[in-house]
Amino acid sequence: MAAASARRVPSFEREDHPQVPGTCVVGLQWGDEAKGKLVDILTERHEIVVRYAGGANAGHTVVSNGQTWKLSLIPSGILREAVTCVVTGGVVLDPAAVIKEIDGLEARGVGVAGKLLVSDRAHVVFPWHVAEDRLLDGSLSGGEPIGTTGRGIGPCYRDKVGRSLAIRLGDLYRPEFRGQLEHIAGLKTKFLGTEFDVSAIHGQYRQYAERLRPLVCDTTAFLLDAVEAGRRVLFEGAQGALLDVDHGTYPFVTSSNSSGVGISNGSGVPGRWIEQVIGVVKAYSTRVGGGPMPTEQDNATGQRIRDRGNEYGTVTRRPRRCGWFDAVAARYTARLSGVDELAVMLLDVLSGFDELAICSAYLVEGRRVTQFPSHVDDLKRAQPVYETLPGWREELTGVRRYDDLPVNARRYLARIGELLGRPVTVVSVGPDRAQTIFCEPNAWPRATHPAAANA
Ligand code: GDP
Ligand code: IMO
Ligand code: MG
Repeated sequence: MAAASARRVPSFEREDHPQVPGTCVVGLQWGDEAKGKLVDILTERHEIVVRYAGGANAGHTVVSNGQTWKLSLIPSGILREAVTCVVTGGVVLDPAAVIKEIDGLEARGVGVAGKLLVSDRAHVVFPWHVAEDRLLDGSLSGGEPIGTTGRGIGPCYRDKVGRSLAIRLGDLYRPEFRGQLEHIAGLKTKFLGTEFDVSAIHGQYRQYAERLRPLVCDTTAFLLDAVEAGRRVLFEGAQGALLDVDHGTYPFVTSSNSSGVGISNGSGVPGRWIEQVIGVVKAYSTRVGGGPMPTEQDNATGQRIRDRGNEYGTVTRRPRRCGWFDAVAARYTARLSGVDELAVMLLDVLSGFDELAICSAYLVEGRRVTQFPSHVDDLKRAQPVYETLPGWREELTGVRRYDDLPVNARRYLARIGELLGRPVTVVSVGPDRAQTIFCEPNAWPRATHPAAANA
């Protein structure tokens, strides 16, 4: 990944961009940062869009020409012509969910034939995974639930790593599938005390397999050929880096590497092909489900953000927990994900506040820290240290140029960039494609850039 010092304009605006094979869009918070919107925009400049982690727990929204699209397993690039969308082996695949999504797209005139590839290495979600997800969620950490999406994600990843009870998409086409299913269903019945009708599941999954057959292939080989041929590939992160199973707020996380570190293991494309990572943040914080969130505003401020931002989950419709921007957390995940530049989304939601707060440090047992705590108990104890910035009254949804943003909105963006040590190159002021501002080169205050001394 290139040094941040060279970045003054979005990489995809640069003339040399066609030589750059890999760009990645990764959420730096707890998901729902509006990755789908950004991926859809960037797809215009890419040939291939790749989902490398997660599963049907993701809900990515794209709004264009007054139409709203909700994507879950299928990459957000699917809405553009002449783009190949790839679901890699790092994804856990619920075949019923992906078929439903394909049918929904086709009913609205978006065909997937010849445009969508699904990895034969993807692990398959079965009914017992969903049953386990529901059974286990409440019993974590002495009863404190993670608040999963209930899509069987964690149990499917657990079986993948455990190997003995796992079935991959490619297995559904082999004669051994029936025997595997009988063996696993028998064991799952013992563990869960629930009977599974093996014949019915076998018949159903064989049907799914036939329906998906034209799409199933070795996507690792496809992607390696693509990057080696210099084809432009866009990696679409799912969830957010704070939900990363290894580096997030464990155990209140998802079960995959949802930060930038997961791109290679999920897709099979080595990091050397990923030239540019764009970190996506909301202009504030949200979280769905359990776990610590130091800047949460469980009060009128939080409700105001929720109302203005329509902060209800795309997948489960649960109200999202809302709060101030947490620069300690986002700086950590920007570094972890190798982020070069930032896209700040939903800035319009913050209009009308007299003052805005940004958390720039935590107090943990009286000590001021700027390093994100590695243990969840320390994060639970962390008291946010806020700096306040003046707000702005103007609605931003019609603004299309950086210079037309109110000065206090520009100050707010600059402060986020400064605290995270990366330039803000994209600003979103509404859900529509058109409601996007690409910053001018001088948007970044050079004097305050950490690399300014070298520039
Ligand atoms: P993702 O999971 O990261 O793709 O994000 P989601 O789609 O789950 O949630 C983002 C929500 O914010 C969606 O409803 C988008 O339509 C909406 N959205 C995206 N950008 C903006 C923006 O700049 N302003 C507002 N008000 N809404 C936005
Ligand atoms: P996108 O891609 C927000 C959260 C769940 C729960 C935790 C674990 O739309 O940003 P899981 O079902 O994955 O085992 O749940 O992770 N979560 C998300 N939150 N956006 C998502 O995806 C999420 N995917 C999972 O709410 O707290
Ligand atoms: Mg979402």
